[in-house]
Amino acid sequence: MEGRTFSTNGFEGSGGGGAWGSSEDSKPYYVTTPIFYVNAEPHIGHLHSCLVADVLARYQDLRRGGDSIYTREGNRRSRGEEDEVAKKTKGLKGKSKSILSTGTDEHGLKIQKVAERSSEDPLQLCDRISKRFKDLARAANVSYTRFIRTTDPDHREAVHHLWRQMVRSGHIYKGKHSGWYSVSDEAFFPESQVREVTDLKTGESYMESIETGSRLEWSEEENYKFRLAEFRERLIDWLEKDTKAIQPAKRHAEVLSELKSGLSDLSVSRPSSRLSWGIPVPDDPGHSIYVWVDALTNYLTVSGYPWKEDFGSESNRCWPADVHVVGKDIIRFHAIYWPAFLMACHLPLPKTILAHSHWTMNKSKMSKSKGNVANPFKALELYGVDPVRFFLMRVGGNFSTDSDYSPAMLEEYYKKSLQGQLGNLLSRILAPKLLTKLREGGSKEPLSSPTATAIRDRLVTSLHSLPSLYERHQEDLELSKSLESIFSLISECNELVSQVQPWSDQVPFHEVVDCLHLSHETLRLVGVLLSPFMPRSMETLLDHLRVPEDKRSWSDVATWNQQQRRWVFRLRSSQDFLSSSLLLSDEKLKPLFPRLEL
Ligand code: MSP
Repeated sequence: MEGRTFSTNGFEGSGGGGAWGSSEDSKPYYVTTPIFYVNAEPHIGHLHSCLVADVLARYQDLRRGGDSIYTREGNRRSRGEEDEVAKKTKGLKGKSKSILSTGTDEHGLKIQKVAERSSEDPLQLCDRISKRFKDLARAANVSYTRFIRTTDPDHREAVHHLWRQMVRSGHIYKGKHSGWYSVSDEAFFPESQVREVTDLKTGESYMESIETGSRLEWSEEENYKFRLAEFRERLIDWLEKDTKAIQPAKRHAEVLSELKSGLSDLSVSRPSSRLSWGIPVPDDPGHSIYVWVDALTNYLTVSGYPWKEDFGSESNRCWPADVHVVGKDIIRFHAIYWPAFLMACHLPLPKTILAHSHWTMNKSKMSKSKGNVANPFKALELYGVDPVRFFLMRVGGNFSTDSDYSPAMLEEYYKKSLQGQLGNLLSRILAPKLLTKLREGGSKEPLSSPTATAIRDRLVTSLHSLPSLYERHQEDLELSKSLESIFSLISECNELVSQVQPWSDQVPFHEVVDCLHLSHETLRLVGVLLSPFMPRSMETLLDHLRVPEDKRSWSDVATWNQQQRRWVFRLRSSQDFLSSSLLLSDEKLKPLFPRLEL
């Protein structure tokens, strides 16, 4: 890092209310995905949550220099090795790399019922589907540190510890509870949020949730309750002070308004006669812990909670999370219940909750129950890992609006952006004929100043601006805009190549060199900045450009300009470019993004 320190998420001092502070310089960056229900196979929407987190983690690795000590190739680790990594996270001092957690949410009525229906042992069902989510993370090159399962023994310990803390602080009491419960959402809904509907086919009337449309069942039972209502003021205060705690801004506003309209206590257990597939309440096995208390605690489990003596100093802990990536449908759980549980236990709050929108199919939310899901494994196989990563982030990386998924649109992005812009620029400037010309010409003519043209000047300006622009978008969690700005630079560069036509014999040598110099530099910058999004293709691209492996970090492409107070491109001189071009291969290279065989 040169010149200045940067905040892990761009929002210095956010996540208020922590019991202790943690040094930005030594705390690992910690990003989480939601943990997925194992009642159905993964779909594109699930992959989306994982990719957002992966891009953020890889970006932090890039900014903090090199690979994560915890995660790199975490996707290829075996379970045993993961445990080793988990051990490592406990003892580290003063390191500031990223930790990414993902996994599966395995308890609850929803899973219990699916298992009952298929007469399958619940754990067997969990093992089977959990593996599919793990396979997906691997297939999509998601570099997780830990794949947590709520059936893991250390997770049960963490949940019990958190529960006892909430009891100790007087926030849990036993009470009668009656209300409408949705098994599919694993949540109770108040009277104001339910309505009666009639099934047109069967004529049967039933209650449904207005918000999610899921069917409700009446439940009247004794269970444990959490004094959620007591936290209303503190939650409002937190969100009013920390205006970026929930992103995008419109979600922040929605949660605040929900809080202002009132908050009731929350039922946090179910009788184990009804919910047998869950973690029992400590010292009261007649009750099982509510699945959302269980699930949300996963974020603490991964951080080593309950922290023991040997855990290392406070600043080495990865808690609090820097970003919880969640879908917009589960904000309430993350932005109201979860912070309240943490407050009850005097634990620091997550710094940011990033709520992305949904992928739809024909404008309707992609979900197993509607049967309109796109299979992520098939898409990865058909189009390749990085093209799918690119497409989901380019289109779905605009977090405030839903996006409609269609193979036709994916193919269009593949053809126009990846093949037509990026792949095309690379193959144009690495054409063997052009390299020969470069080498032969170099010995004959001395370099003179490049000819100024509007296109060239605009490209140079854009090259210098891109690092700070990219940084701003990444830190603002605007992943789609990051990609847009990178591809706009690529397009400007293609324009220059088309204008100069360096392959033509009519073009003076110094203009050929200038054009190729700027194009190589554009691609070197693009290769580094795109690596969190498309890690493997960018590795190949940088290999083709003969950029040494230890010269692919942020500081190799960006330098802090004190006067302008921004990052600018570290442009190599044309002499340096000419000497390194001697290393380029004369062979015709395989296209970075081959023709789609569909
Ligand atoms: N198990 C809970 C999360 C517990 S986190 C402590 C859950 N699981 S889920 O499998 O239903 O959803 C997991 C994530 O996938 C959520 O963030 C959800 O928003 C996301 N998606 C599910 N369908 C989606 C789309 N159609 N589009 C984008 N994301 C979607 O909720």
